[in-house]
Amino acid sequence: MKIINLEKNMGSFQLKIDHLDIEPGKVHGLVGHNGCGKTILLKTIIGILTPDSGTIDMEGLEKSKMTMMMQRPYLLHDSVYENVIYPLKIRKIPVDEAKVDAMLEKVGLLAQKNQYARSLSSGERQKLSFLRAVIFGPEFVIMDETLSNMDPESERTIISLIKEIQQTRPITWLIVNHQLEQKKDLCDVIHYMEKGRIVNETA
Ligand SMILES: Nc1ncnc2c1ncn2[C@@H]1O[C@H](COP(=O)(O)OP(=O)(O)OP(=O)(O)O)[C@@H](O)[C@H]1O
Ligand SMILES: [Mg+2]
Repeated sequence: MKIINLEKNMGSFQLKIDHLDIEPGKVHGLVGHNGCGKTILLKTIIGILTPDSGTIDMEGLEKSKMTMMMQRPYLLHDSVYENVIYPLKIRKIPVDEAKVDAMLEKVGLLAQKNQYARSLSSGERQKLSFLRAVIFGPEFVIMDETLSNMDPESERTIISLIKEIQQTRPITWLIVNHQLEQKKDLCDVIHYMEKGRIVNETA
């Protein structure tokens, strides 16, 4: 994906990305202070916000193959299980319950399978949000602070699931997290943002 001359104004805030290349099949980190525009950039990429000007070249990527884990995940008024399989249902992909159970088990949510999703703790919600994002085989996954509310062990579990996906069928990740500096082994590239702009990137 190539972002060129993207501008989005929100009140007095201005997002201005001259050029950002999100190379496919890689894990991209996005780092920057609170309020620098990370969420606005992510929402513009996924299409929740419309840019004022500029282009986002998807390079053939279909919208239905993209997904975003929100900073505050929206959960259906239903069970954990129903939330996880929702992306399959809307895409008319058959559900393999045993496979879903195995995934729930991996992230430690199997005991909560039939629990009302909105009664989950915030870390549990983030894990549910992760499963719901990866279950339909996306090609581009955006994570807005999904790892932030997790305990160290849960965080390691999710990171190992990301690495497992990358080893079997590499997809594109754009991950916002404040501790990415300490997770350089997860990211192939880290993009730094300051006041609505991309300032630097390291491989
Ligand atoms: N609808 C809006 N109207 C006016 N200003 C907004 C609106 N939405 C966001 N902003 C402002 O735009 C700036 C960037 O917001 P954004 O949510 O992208 O920050 P962020 O980098 O994701 O921060 P955080 O690390 O806290 O999640 C902030 O100063 C925010 O207050
Ligand atoms: Mg944010």
